[in-house]
Amino acid sequence: SIAQMEKIVSLCKRRGFIYQSSEIYGGCGGVWDYGPLGAELKRNLRTAWWNTMTREREDVLGLDASILMNPAIWKASGHVDTFADLMRECSLTNKRVRADHVEPQDGVVMKYSGATSPTGWRWDRTVSALLKNGEHIESFRKRIRALIAQNAGEAAGKPEEIELLNEEKIDAVNGSVDFHPETGGALGEARPFNLMLKTYLGPTATEADVTYLRPETAQAIFAQFKNVYDSSRVKVPFGIGQIGKAFRNEVTPKNFTFRSREFEQMELEFFIKPDEAVEIISGEVMAWSEGADLSEPKPNWGWQMWHRYWVDQRTKFYEGIGLGDVLEYYWQTPADLAHYARACVDILCEFPFGTEELEGIAARGDFDLSQHQKHSTKSLEVFDEELKTAAAKLTPEQKEALIQKKLQSLPQAMQIDTDVVTQWRTWFERLFKGNYVPHVIEPSAGLDRMALAVIAKAFSETEKVDEKGKKEVITVLRLHPRVAPVKVGVFPLLKNKPELVAKAREVYALLKKHMNCFYDETASIGRRYARQDEAGTPFGVTIDFETCGEKGPELADTVTLRHRDSGEQERVKISDLLGKLLPLVS
Ligand code: GAP
Repeated sequence: SIAQMEKIVSLCKRRGFIYQSSEIYGGCGGVWDYGPLGAELKRNLRTAWWNTMTREREDVLGLDASILMNPAIWKASGHVDTFADLMRECSLTNKRVRADHVEPQDGVVMKYSGATSPTGWRWDRTVSALLKNGEHIESFRKRIRALIAQNAGEAAGKPEEIELLNEEKIDAVNGSVDFHPETGGALGEARPFNLMLKTYLGPTATEADVTYLRPETAQAIFAQFKNVYDSSRVKVPFGIGQIGKAFRNEVTPKNFTFRSREFEQMELEFFIKPDEAVEIISGEVMAWSEGADLSEPKPNWGWQMWHRYWVDQRTKFYEGIGLGDVLEYYWQTPADLAHYARACVDILCEFPFGTEELEGIAARGDFDLSQHQKHSTKSLEVFDEELKTAAAKLTPEQKEALIQKKLQSLPQAMQIDTDVVTQWRTWFERLFKGNYVPHVIEPSAGLDRMALAVIAKAFSETEKVDEKGKKEVITVLRLHPRVAPVKVGVFPLLKNKPELVAKAREVYALLKKHMNCFYDETASIGRRYARQDEAGTPFGVTIDFETCGEKGPELADTVTLRHRDSGEQERVKISDLLGKLLPLVS
């Protein structure tokens, strides 16, 4: 709900997870900064992705490429020509908004953001209503107020406090087709707006020096494909993974960090053999069927199996960071698919503002490498000895049958296009000699969305009675121990007992070499636990008089280990602490 999201945004600021960028100067639209806890959380997510996707696999290698690249890359990839959103410009303010944020109809469509919240965060879910034919503008205003109150609820405060944005402009546009709440104006024609952020490389800053901040990390992987391949002695199938910043000049950034202008992606490009190569080598291509075993890749897997395999692998990853039960899948229909994609599934996650995309997993064929091969004029083919040997054993009839099968799978118009037929015949000739441009399966995740997803999933409130009998609502961030920014809070029971403090410092020094710990000796122990609960810390270690041997030798050098989620407390020897905690947090 809106109220829930509002609390999350407020917690993120209060506890140092996420701040508005440039806040002291009034902010910077669509850009966010991660505070001490947020930086650790992101780092843990990054490490989890990197380890799962590269280090723990023999078939994936890492890359760390530059944000700035030769602009020819963005021409080849299609981003210069097609990476755009439809945008309209407001006639009154010249402000630009995404065209799909306005739905022109027969009357005036009014859309209002919910309200500006006390933390300065604007709820982005809009309320729209159609000015009915003949409806008085005042009754329309009333209707809008009621709708906002109903939709924005608690976060908007009392309904009468809601200010209708640009109220004074309603009359001005009454009767026009579109009206936008952020600008208040009638809007011009929808036209494409390229989302890439332009910059200049070199001192002259002329058009010839224009380049872009990368809008995705993927293209650098394609551009460096041959270098990685040649320098690493790998064989297809194999993947290249990369984590890094990406930039998009989103027309309407929204929902906190969910749609930002600067964000981080974690992308894998997994290169596979074309199905025709698999068929020649293995004599068959295994396609996807319900219930197929995805646990272990097999040489006869076609692209469909690889695609499903990566959906399965990514699902397991999300289960491992505590998001297993909030995922949904959207299989794009042929109409949704980008022209180069054969299939794409979006992994969606439940956020307080709705179920939205967390990651996309696309089967992109050989589109990317072929484009770069064409534009750079450098060969991006690989040579496959096994394929060459297997193809050499085929009879000319068998080869022709393979070619015919391919041609017949093409649309009718292409089958009779001599250029297309010649291109395919040339492609098969190279294939039979063992050469091809690999196809690719691309699981592409957003780190900032993942961080927001785990925070939103972990957020919970419980009512507690404090030491004085007063009821209070306590926020507990039930982050999975693997991603929690602080793993253990270390607390001496009392701060004015030097022996407790010294022992606690000892335990802190022991643990902090292995995991992020937080030492806290101020306030009551209950307060200190509560502070760590709110920060998502899964474990607490308390050093008390028993630890110092004051309650008998059997409890000496033991501590209380508190588990955040169960509230369970157990007595653990200091010498056993690390062995117990390490497997739980890594
Ligand atoms: N290389 C493919 C690609 O970039 P995408 O669906 O445009 O695909 C992949 O982006 C992921 O990157 C998304 O699923 C999302 O998690 C993240 N992402 C994209 N745009 C974003 C934005 N403006 N703010 C935050 N994350 C974003």
